[in-house]
Amino acid sequence: MLIIFIGPPGSGKGTQAERLCQRLGIQHLSTGDMLRATIAAEADLGVQAAGCLQRGELVPDQLVVDMVDETLAQSPYAEGCLLDGFPRSLSQAEALDGLLESRQIGISQVLELEVDQPELIERLLARKRPDDTLETIKNRLQVFQNQTSPLLDYYRQRGLLASVNGNGTVDQVEDRVQSALASQSNVSEH
Ligand code: AP5
Repeated sequence: MLIIFIGPPGSGKGTQAERLCQRLGIQHLSTGDMLRATIAAEADLGVQAAGCLQRGELVPDQLVVDMVDETLAQSPYAEGCLLDGFPRSLSQAEALDGLLESRQIGISQVLELEVDQPELIERLLARKRPDDTLETIKNRLQVFQNQTSPLLDYYRQRGLLASVNGNGTVDQVEDRVQSALASQSNVSEH
């Protein structure tokens, strides 16, 4: 099983991914979390990525594609996972198609989390992660609009996209996520 979450910064991808992965017994693969771990380890790669995160820009495609490729090669991920924050551009989506095809894994469903912009900004300013400054948030929202939102049509045309209203409480959104998945026959709880 492979589920993809797409949504702007602050839409609740990470929050809902944790709950859903626990419920379905699948792995949570967040490229943002992986990049922050790389930066914390201060590897050379981390230095390159740190500037991108600080500015709210995407890191180079090949960096995240390689990270996802290596992770999908590990046993629990190959058996079922939720991609949170990847793919984030059409070129990443095409690279993912290649990775999945070589492993004979199909995409079960793509879920879009839709949240009003003022609510996104309010949530992120309240969290205070290093890239949650107003200037960087605005850039991250613009990057989502320009580079990530074209993925919605990409998956809609393949009949894989379901849109979920991400406004409201975490529990309310969780209920909507479950309803959206329940309407998809190849996504079932363990
Ligand atoms: P990433 O870590 O993926 O950040 P993001 O997409 O900007 O998303 P966030 O983590 O900010 O929000 P979220 O939607 O997960 O919401 P969350 O649940 O955390 O990426 C960071 C950076 O890494 C990127 O800018 C880029 O530089 C780089 N990067 C990552 N992936 C990449 C890729 N594939 N290619 C290139 N570069 C990449 O919730 C946010 C806050 O809201 C939390 O405080 C939460 O408690 C709260 N909240 C959640 N739901 C609700 C609710 N319903 N009501 C009230 N509060 C809520």
